[in-house]
Amino acid sequence: MADIFERLIKNYGPLGQHRERAHGYFAFPKLEGAIGSKMKFRGQEMIVWSLNNYLGLANHPEVRKADADGSAQYGLALPMGARMMSGNSDLHEQLEKELAEFVHKEDSILMNYGYQGIMSAIDSICGRHDVVVYDAECHACIIDALRMIPGHRFVFKHNDVEDCEKQLHRAQALVDKQQSGGILVITEGVFGMAGDQGCLKEIAALKKKVPFRLLVDDAHGFGTLGATGAGAGEAQGCQDEIDLYFSTFAKSMASIGAFMAGPKNIIDYIRYNIRSQIFAKSLPMPYVVGNLKRLELLRSKPELKANLWKNALALQNGLKERGFDIGKTDSVVTPVYMKGGVEEATAMVMDIRENYKIFCSIVVYPVIPKGHIIYRLIPTAVHTQEEIDLTLKAFSETKAKLDAGAYKVAEIPDMANK
Ligand SMILES: Cc1ncc(COP(=O)(O)O)c(C=O)c1O
Repeated sequence: MADIFERLIKNYGPLGQHRERAHGYFAFPKLEGAIGSKMKFRGQEMIVWSLNNYLGLANHPEVRKADADGSAQYGLALPMGARMMSGNSDLHEQLEKELAEFVHKEDSILMNYGYQGIMSAIDSICGRHDVVVYDAECHACIIDALRMIPGHRFVFKHNDVEDCEKQLHRAQALVDKQQSGGILVITEGVFGMAGDQGCLKEIAALKKKVPFRLLVDDAHGFGTLGATGAGAGEAQGCQDEIDLYFSTFAKSMASIGAFMAGPKNIIDYIRYNIRSQIFAKSLPMPYVVGNLKRLELLRSKPELKANLWKNALALQNGLKERGFDIGKTDSVVTPVYMKGGVEEATAMVMDIRENYKIFCSIVVYPVIPKGHIIYRLIPTAVHTQEEIDLTLKAFSETKAKLDAGAYKVAEIPDMANK
C-alpha cells in the first residue's frame, strides 16, 4: 500500500516544484505597509500593480474608520452561530437590502467568502436533472462547484455565443429526454485574466431560443462597470436578464465576503438551503459595518470609478502606443502578452522589481500555454500619472531586453527567503 504523504513529496506540482527558489519572491511574496499604489516589498518601496483594490477603498479614511469603529463596538465574535440559528442581525439584513438595490434586484443573500459561497449556491440550486451550460474560462470556484453537482454540464468555448447556443440545444435535448430538469447558464461579467467582458447581452438573447436561467459572477465588474457601478450587466444594458447576480467583496469593496442577488423567492430558497452559510458562523459584525460603509462610498463617490477608468485608460493606451499586445480587454484589468519561458519570465520580473521598483504579477505555464507570459496589471483609482509613466518606461525597456534574449537563464533565479 502506498503512503499518501510519500507520493505528495515526490511531486509538489507544477508551481510547487519551484518553491525552493521562488518562495517569498515569485510565490507568496509579502507586501507591507498601508495598501496603496506604493507598498514595501523586501524593504524596498515599489509601485504595485497586483491588487484588486480597484476603487482605492482599502485605505480610504472613511473605510478605515468604519472598520475600526465596527471592531471596537462589536468585536469579531458577534454574532455567534450561523445566520439561521443565532447569527442574524439587523445590519446583516440591511446590507443585503442595500446590495440588492445597488444591483437592481429584489433581494440578496450574504456569503462569508466568494469562492465557497458561489460553490454552495450553485450546489443548492442545481438538482440531479438540471443541466449547467458554462463558459470554458470560468473561475475555479465555478469549475469546482460543477464538480459537486449531480447533473450534466456542457462547456462552451470562451465567450463564443454560437457555441453557447449549440450547447444549449444539447442541454435542451437532454432535459427533454429526461422529461425533467431545467438549464442554468453560468458565465462571468469580466474574465479576470484577460479582462474581456462576458457576452452577457448576446447570451441573454438566447433565452428566446432555449429557455434557461442566467447566473453571472461579476467579481471584477461590480463597482468598476456600468453607469452606477452595478457591473457588466448594467454596462451592457442587460442587468434585468441576469437572473442571479454574484460578486465577491474581495475586489472593488476591498474586504471579505460576497453576495448573490436575484428574485426574492429564489434568494429565500437559497437562504434556507445554502450549506456553506447554514453550517457556518455568519459574517462578523465589523465586516458587515465595513461593507455597508464601502457600499455607501460606491454610491456617493462616483469620482472613485472615474479615477479608476482615467488611470486604466492612460495605462492601456500608453501600452498600446508602445506596441504592447493587451489583447481583448474591455475592462480595467490590463494583461500584457509576451513570449518567453518560465525562467525568462522570472528573470524579467526580478529585473523590474529590483531595478525599476515595480511590483507586478506574471502568469506563466501551466496557467497559460508554454512559451507565453502574461503580465497582469491592475490599475486602481489611487495610482498617479507619474507612476503610470514610470511603469510604461520600465515596460518598454524590459521588453526590449526580453526580445534581445537578455533574460535567457537556465533556471529561475534563486530568490527564496532563506
Ligand atoms: C471571478 C471570481 N469569482 C470568485 C472569486 C472568489 O472570491 P473570494 O476571494 O471572496 O473567495 C474570485 C476571487 O477572488 C474571482 O476572481
